Amino acid sequence: MPMQRIEPGPFLFPMPTVLVGADIDGKPNFMTAAFVGIVNYKPSMVACGLNPSHRTCEGIESNRAFSLCVPSADMVEVVDWCGLTSGKKVDKSEVFKVFRGEVAGAPMIEDFPLCAECRLMQATPYGVDTLYVAEIVSVHARADCLDNGRPNWLKISPLLFTFPEPSYWKLGDYVAKAWHAGREYEPKKPISG
Ligand SMILES: Cc1cc2nc3c(=O)[nH]c(=O)nc-3n(C[C@H](O)[C@H](O)[C@H](O)COP(=O)(O)O)c2cc1C
Repeated sequence: MPMQRIEPGPFLFPMPTVLVGADIDGKPNFMTAAFVGIVNYKPSMVACGLNPSHRTCEGIESNRAFSLCVPSADMVEVVDWCGLTSGKKVDKSEVFKVFRGEVAGAPMIEDFPLCAECRLMQATPYGVDTLYVAEIVSVHARADCLDNGRPNWLKISPLLFTFPEPSYWKLGDYVAKAWHAGREYEPKKPISG
């Protein structure tokens, strides 16, 4: 099959959609973000590509902390709204019932399946966005989304995001156990032509 070069740019989707939370002037603010991912196992670290002009980023930079709150797919409306409105114009501090952990300035949302409090390690500007790299200090999960203390992703039902046509999706079917599925695989020569 011939390969075709397509427009270069962000191409690796789906990504989970999350809300990034930070306190500003003592009040919580939340923004939607999709350019977020795990980047290290131990210590557990995340990296978020965020435009530093966002109100949330003022809080991230002044507290050197933020939260990541993972919604379910059925929370799509409020999640999208948090990405359509800015804390510069709309007070988002009362939209969610907030709880707090050990990291000051990292408000988390009650009733969201998973929330993590993160401590900022590095903020590096690249073009229009800034890459915020942070350590995950602790993770909080809604009890009904756990099986034997571990997150069950079918129960969480994360809200996935794809580009370039900005779209939300749900998790699809289970395929196979990782670090297992390839055990019997035998490499074949690629078919040329
Ligand atoms: C689905 C979705 C994903 C988004 N992902 C990001 C992102 O990864 N980085 C970013 O800087 N902004 C992202 N945004 C835009 C911000 O959420 C938006 O500008 C928001 O209004 C900022 O809020 P704030 O000013 O209160 O912080 C996204 C918006 C939506 C709807």
